[in-house]
Amino acid sequence: MEENYFVSKVEEFVKKQLYDEASGHDWWHIDRVRKNALRIGATENANIFIVELAALLHDLIDDKLSEDVKLQINDVERLLMKMEIDRKVVADVVDIIQIISFRKKTPVHHLSLEAKVVQDADRLDAIGAIGIARTFTYAGSKGNLIYHPNNKEGTDAISHFYDKLLKLKDLMNTKTGKLLAEERHQFLQVFLDQFYRECNEVK
Ligand code: ADP
Ligand code: NI
Repeated sequence: MEENYFVSKVEEFVKKQLYDEASGHDWWHIDRVRKNALRIGATENANIFIVELAALLHDLIDDKLSEDVKLQINDVERLLMKMEIDRKVVADVVDIIQIISFRKKTPVHHLSLEAKVVQDADRLDAIGAIGIARTFTYAGSKGNLIYHPNNKEGTDAISHFYDKLLKLKDLMNTKTGKLLAEERHQFLQVFLDQFYRECNEVK
C-alpha cells in the first residue's frame, strides 16, 4: 500500500538523522513515541497515517537537538512534498510537528485529534521508568547534578520531576492517554519516595 511505502521512507530518513542523538531524542525515543501514538490513535479513531508520520518527524526541528542534525520546518515540508504525499496530509503533519516542537501553549481545543494523540505519546515517554531514565540522561548531558537538596535554581534532575514530569498526567489530551499515564505517574512517585528514603538513610 502507498501509505506503508511513505511511512517506510520517512522512517528510513529519521533513523539516519537521529540514530544516536545524545540529548534524549535518539531513534529509540522516536520509535517508542510512534508505537504509543499508533496505540492511542487506534482507540481514539484518529487518522493513523497522519499520526504515524507526525510521530516519526516530531522531534526533527526541536531546539534541543544538536545543530548538526536539527532541521527547519521547511526542510521537513519539502521532504514530504518531494515524496508526493497528499498536500493536505503534509499540511496537517507540519502543523503537528510545530505545535509539539515549539512547546507552544496551544489551547487544547485548537489541536487536531492527531496532534493530541502524538503529544500524548511524546508525554508518555517523558514519564514512568523511561521518563526517569531520559531525565537523568538529559541532566548528565548538560552537566547538571542528580540532586541538590536545596538547589534554588532547580537545575538538578530531581527538580525536573516537579517542573514537568509530575504535571504531565493531568495534561494528557485523550482518554486513552490519561489511562496509560496513570501507572507511569504512580511509578514516578514510588521512585521519588525510595530516592528520598535512601538519601535520609545516609544523613
Ligand atoms: P520531548 O522529546 O518530550 O520533546 P524534551 O525535548 O522536552 O522532550 O526533553 C527530552 C527529555 O529530557 C525529556 O525526557 C525531558 O523530560 C528531559 N528534560 C528536559 N529538560 C530537562 C531538564 N532541565 N532536566 C532534566 N531532564 C530534562
Ligand atoms: Ni519527543
